[in-house]
Amino acid sequence: MHETQGTGAAATDISTQDMIGVADIGVVGLAVMGENLVLNMEGRGFTVAVFNRTVARVDDFVDGRAAGLRIVGARSPEAFVRALKPPRRVLMMVRAGDPVDQTIEHLLPYLEPGDILMDGGNSHFADTERRAALLRERGLLYVGTGVSGGEEGALHGPSIMPGGHAEAWPHVGPIFQAIAARVADGTPCCDWVGAGGSGHFVKMVHNGIEYGDMQMIGEAYALMRGALGFTPERMSEVFARWNEGRLDSYLVEITARILATKDDATGVPMVDVILDTAGQKGTGKWTSTTALDLGVPAATIAEAVFARCMSALKDERVTASGVLAGPDAAWQGDADAFVADLELALYASKICSYAQGFSLMRLAAVEYGWQLDYGRVAQMWRGGCIIRAAFLDDIKAAYDASPLLPNLLLAPFFRDALAGAQGAWRRVVGAAVTLGIPVPAFSSALAYYDGYRSERLPANLLQAQRDYFGAHTYERVDQPRGKFFHTDWTGEGGDTASTPYTV
Ligand code: 6PG
Repeated sequence: MHETQGTGAAATDISTQDMIGVADIGVVGLAVMGENLVLNMEGRGFTVAVFNRTVARVDDFVDGRAAGLRIVGARSPEAFVRALKPPRRVLMMVRAGDPVDQTIEHLLPYLEPGDILMDGGNSHFADTERRAALLRERGLLYVGTGVSGGEEGALHGPSIMPGGHAEAWPHVGPIFQAIAARVADGTPCCDWVGAGGSGHFVKMVHNGIEYGDMQMIGEAYALMRGALGFTPERMSEVFARWNEGRLDSYLVEITARILATKDDATGVPMVDVILDTAGQKGTGKWTSTTALDLGVPAATIAEAVFARCMSALKDERVTASGVLAGPDAAWQGDADAFVADLELALYASKICSYAQGFSLMRLAAVEYGWQLDYGRVAQMWRGGCIIRAAFLDDIKAAYDASPLLPNLLLAPFFRDALAGAQGAWRRVVGAAVTLGIPVPAFSSALAYYDGYRSERLPANLLQAQRDYFGAHTYERVDQPRGKFFHTDWTGEGGDTASTPYTV
C-alpha cells in the first residue's frame, strides 16, 4: 500500500543537447503512459525524441528508465522538433483539454508543412475536429488517436485507434502497428479509423463500454455477495471460471485476481477495505451525453455512469440506509444454479451494452460523415485495450458478415445467444428486484432488449398527452409517416397546433 500525491517538480535550466534529424518520432508528455509508449517504440527499433514541459522529468527519464536506449531527451520545444526526421511525427501524451492546445501552441512555431501532430490522450472528439481543421490551415497533418490498455498496455502493446488526416497514416501506421497489441493471427490492434475526430470518438465509446462492463461485473459481484453470501475468495473462483468461457475478458480476469488479493496491513480481502465510492474522469459521461445528443438509446452505458454518481453519494446513502425500508426477503434456492444464471445475465447484458456502443458509432458516422468499419473496430478492441474480450471475435464476425447491420442484437449469433440467455437474465433481474439489490445495468440492458424487440411501445399514449396539453401533434397508424395531426381534446383548444422543432 502506498499513498499517492501530485508532484510539482520545477523546470531546470540545463542547456539544450542538440541532436538533429535523428529521431523517427517524438513524444511530448512523460507521464506514465507517455514513458511506456516511448519505451515500447524504442523496443521495436525506433529512435524516439522526448520532451516534457517540466524539463526535470526529461532528465530523470533519460538518466533512468531510458538510459542507454535510443531515446533523445530535448529540453525545449525547438530542440525537440529539430531532433526529428522529416516529415516530423509528434505524439502528444498530455492531459485532455487545455494542455493539448498549449502543447500545440508551443510546437507550432517549429513545425513545417507536412509535419504530423498526433494527440494520444483521451480528448473529446469535437476538440480533435477543431484542432484538425486549425492545423490543416497551417499545412500540418493532425491525428487524434485513442490509446487504450493502461500502463502495461502502453509498454507491451496497446490498442491504438487513430483518426484524422488520412495522408498521415502511411507515415505513422508502421510505427503504431509495430507497437500495438496483436490478435492471435498476428493482426495488429491498430488500424486507421477514419476522418476528423473519429479515432477519439471510437476511443470514447470504448470507454463508455468499459464503464458498462465494469458496472455489470460489479452487479454480479453484488448479487453473489448480497444474495448468496459468497466470500471474495469464492467469487474469485467463479470469475476465474467465467473467464474460461463466453465471458473470457481482461476485466473478468483482473476481477478474479482482485477478489483473491488480501490487504497487506490487515489480512482482510482488499475489496473489503476499499471505500465504495467510484471516481471517473468523464469519458463515460461524454459517451452518454453524445448518445443523448444523437438520440441513440444507450441507457446501459448511462446507467453505469449514474451508478458511479450514486456511489459517490456515500454519506447520503449511509444516512438513507437507516431511514428507507427495503424488502424482508432473503434469497432461497440453489446457489450453483443462480451462479449459472448470473453468468448468462452478465453475458446478455454485455451484448446489449456493446450493441448500444456500436449503434452510437453508426449514428455518429452518419452525423459526422465518417466511414467506420465496425468489424475492424471490434478487432482493434480484441487485444491490448481494457475491454479486450474473446466475444469481440463474434462481433467482428457479425459485422464482417453484414457491414450494414442496424443493430448487433439482430446478428444471428447474438440473436440466438440472447434467446438462450433471456430466461436466466430475467430470473436474475427478478431476484435482484425482490431482494432489493440494485442492478441498474442488468435491468436497463434487459429493458433495452425488450424495448428494441417491441413492435409497439406506449409512445402512442405519450404522443396523445403531448398533443392534449401542448398541441404538439401526432402521427396516425392509418396514415403515411410524416403527416401530423392534432385533436382538440377539450373542445376549447381550437385548431392551432405546434410545429415540430427541437431546442
Ligand atoms: C483505457 C482506459 C483509460 C481511462 C481509465 C480511467 O482505455 O486505457 O479507458 O483511457 O482513462 O480507464 O477512466 P475513468 O477514470 O473514467 O474510470
